[in-house]
Amino acid sequence: MASSTKPGCCSLSVTIIGRDHAEIAGMLQELDLQASTAAPSTRTDPLLRELIRTTLSHFAVEEAMMEATRYEVAWFHRLGHQLMTNQLRALAASCRKGGLQQNAHLLNLIIESHFVHVKNEDQDYTLWLGAMARR
Ligand SMILES: [Fe+2]
Repeated sequence: MASSTKPGCCSLSVTIIGRDHAEIAGMLQELDLQASTAAPSTRTDPLLRELIRTTLSHFAVEEAMMEATRYEVAWFHRLGHQLMTNQLRALAASCRKGGLQQNAHLLNLIIESHFVHVKNEDQDYTLWLGAMARR
């Protein structure tokens, strides 16, 4: 895929990206539940680390795909990824001091950022890919 410029070849990548979104959403929902039930850090820390690892890996795949398909507004999309990366790192740093429950407001901000990004930027890219494939 990396050498391709034909978006139609990326349907498998779009499927994988959709699977990643579902996996990330599931982890966010689980963390939200853990925050609301004051779960111990022995449970929340590993899941938070896994969320960050999965999210950063997902961003890298998406950005490689945008580069391979020469997406015109990839630069803007990457800004959204950078914002969420910074939010995740801030949450992890705050959780090391005060735990997840004390930082539920930051988690809620990340949850909102994730869903807005998927609904807007990611959907825009998917629609652009479809339009390019039909040309
Ligand atoms: Fe994205």
